[in-house]
Amino acid sequence: MERAGHQGCGSDCDTLVSQEVSDDEDLKTCNQFNQSKLQVFLFRVSSWRRGRRAALILVVLAGVLLIADISLGVRYNNLKDAHLTLEHAERIGKAMDELQKPQKSAVKPTMGSHKQLDIDMQDQQETIWELEHQTKSSKAYRVQIEEMTKNNEYLKSHLPMTAGGCGRCPSGWILMNSACYFFHFSDAAGLKSWNKARKFCQMYGGDLVVIDSKDKQKAIVNHLVHYVEPSKVHIGFWFGLSDSHIEGTWKWLDGTSLVEGFWMDGEPNDTNNEDCASVYAKKNFFKAWNDLTCEHEQKWICEKAPTSES
Ligand code: BGC
Ligand code: CA
Repeated sequence: MERAGHQGCGSDCDTLVSQEVSDDEDLKTCNQFNQSKLQVFLFRVSSWRRGRRAALILVVLAGVLLIADISLGVRYNNLKDAHLTLEHAERIGKAMDELQKPQKSAVKPTMGSHKQLDIDMQDQQETIWELEHQTKSSKAYRVQIEEMTKNNEYLKSHLPMTAGGCGRCPSGWILMNSACYFFHFSDAAGLKSWNKARKFCQMYGGDLVVIDSKDKQKAIVNHLVHYVEPSKVHIGFWFGLSDSHIEGTWKWLDGTSLVEGFWMDGEPNDTNNEDCASVYAKKNFFKAWNDLTCEHEQKWICEKAPTSES
C-alpha cells in the first residue's frame, strides 16, 4: 500500500470503520494510525501538564523573589535612615575612649603590681637565704651554748670552793679541804721542770703539794679527772715527792718519808734516772703516780695554807 493512501485514510479513518471496510489490511493500518494519533494526543496532554507545573513553579519563584526584593528594599531603606554621620562616628569614638579609660587605668596598676611582685619575690628569696644562713648559724650557736652550759655547770659546781677561797687563797687558787691549791691547767703559761714548778709555788708562799693521805690523793686526782681534757691526760702534774737524795727512798718536801704511795703498776721504775714524782688524771686514784726525770717539763700543783678568816 502506498504511503499517500495512509494519509488519505488518516482524515476519514472513522468513516472507514463505520463503512465496515472489508479490506483487513486497510483496517489494520487505520488502527495503527489511530493509535499514533492517540499517542500524539497523550503526549501533548502530558507536555501541557508539565508546562503548567513549570509555569506554576516559576510563578512561585517569582513571588519569593518579589518578597525577598521587597524585604531587602525595606532593610536598605532602614539602613539609609540609620546611616552613620560624622557626628555619630565622633560620638562613638569618644564613647569607646570612655570605655577604654578604666581598662587603661587598670593596666597601669597591673604593670606596677608586676614590678612590686618582682621586688617582693627578690625580698622573699633573700629571706630564704637568710633563713638558711640563720639555720646554720643557730646550729653553731647551739654547739657553743652546749659547751658554755658545760663550762657553766663546772664553774657552778666549783663555785663554793672558789667562793670559800675568796680572801683566804691567792687569786687563781682554790680552797679545798681547808687548804689552798693551785692547779696549773693552762697550756698557755707553759710547762716547767720539777724545780721551776716548785719555785713558782714558793713565789706565792706555798710549795708543791704533799699528798700524804688517801683522802688528799682522792680529792686531788678527782679534781684532775674533772678538769683535765681527755686529750691531755698523758701530761702529769708535779707534786712534792722525790728520791733525788737517796735513790729509792721517796721523801716529801718536809723531809718525811713516803709511807703510802699511789703508784701506777710498774712504777716507780727510775727509767733514765727518774727522781721526781708526778700525778695523773686517773679514774683509779690508787694507781695515779709515776716517777720522771726532774728536768722533764710538765704541769704542777701548788699547796699553801689559807690566810686566817677575819
Ligand atoms: C714509762 C714510765 C716513764 C716514762 C718516761 C713511760 O713509758 O712507763 O715509767 O717514766 O715513760 O717518759
Ligand atoms: Ca717512771
